[in-house]
Amino acid sequence: MQNVVGIIGWPLNYSLSPLMHTAAFASAKLNWAYIPMPVNLAPEHRLKEAIYGLRALGLKGANVTVPYKEAVIPFLDRLSPDAEAIGAVNTIALDPGGSLVGYNTDGEGFMQDLCKKGHNDTDMHVVVLGAGGTARAIVYALLSHGYTKVSIANRTESKACEIASRFRPLFLQATIVSSTLSEAALASMPRPDLLVNTTSVGMGETEMMPWFEGIPLSSAQVVYDVIYDPSMTKLLRFAKGYGATIYNGLGMLVHQGALSFTIWTGCDAPVDVMKRAIQKSL
Ligand code: ATR
Repeated sequence: MQNVVGIIGWPLNYSLSPLMHTAAFASAKLNWAYIPMPVNLAPEHRLKEAIYGLRALGLKGANVTVPYKEAVIPFLDRLSPDAEAIGAVNTIALDPGGSLVGYNTDGEGFMQDLCKKGHNDTDMHVVVLGAGGTARAIVYALLSHGYTKVSIANRTESKACEIASRFRPLFLQATIVSSTLSEAALASMPRPDLLVNTTSVGMGETEMMPWFEGIPLSSAQVVYDVIYDPSMTKLLRFAKGYGATIYNGLGMLVHQGALSFTIWTGCDAPVDVMKRAIQKSL
């Protein structure tokens, strides 16, 4: 019998996950299907019904995306330690006993991509722009991989503060700084060795960036924008102009998906196949 997984979110028109996982299952010769499962925002109880429906319908699990990564938590039976610490879930799997288990592969997907690209100097000062669920996952992953200098800058400063306060007690050896996302604040902090954009500024357009023209970058810096569409955001263009090493979010997208694939199937994911499927569609 065919195993079924899918993605829960709203809206799902632009999700590339069905394409990526369908290519992966075909390549691995697994009789699995991956389907979009759009869950409308209203009425509120629909999300609960959808999550319990996974079990009722015998699905093997699901990815969870915007806007439900936090909202699904009350409906799950258990969380992995990562998902618990991050407070967000992007992958659900049904265990053999029928329990709904929540995982978060976003941060680890980012780390795997970063390491694969040859960056693993935990002494780097990392500045993360944004303080949403993606930022929380990435900051947690950096800290659990031994990075000790992490700054978080966000338009709403209280959310950056909240992330710092959440992780300080878990990573006592690390210096975690929070600030507002302003030119003055960014100019006054030690220059980032690695700059990571997790805000939505620059998504689906090419003229806005979450950084400031007045703060120059350099060829010694690495700039990672988790946005993958467009593949060259204004931030990456700006950084490239200074000779910085630049990456878009394609690698993170593929690696978070590969980790979900392994959670569901127990098999290694065909990462290159998944990457090519996405590149072709972009
Ligand atoms: P995700 O789950 O992808 O992290 P999110 O939780 O909605 O998405 O977070 C979006 C991030 O983009 C937030 O940090 C948000 O800043 P606020 O917390 O101040 O809302 C940031 N963001 C969105 N639009 C922005 C803008 N125009 N300027 C700066 N930051 C912005």
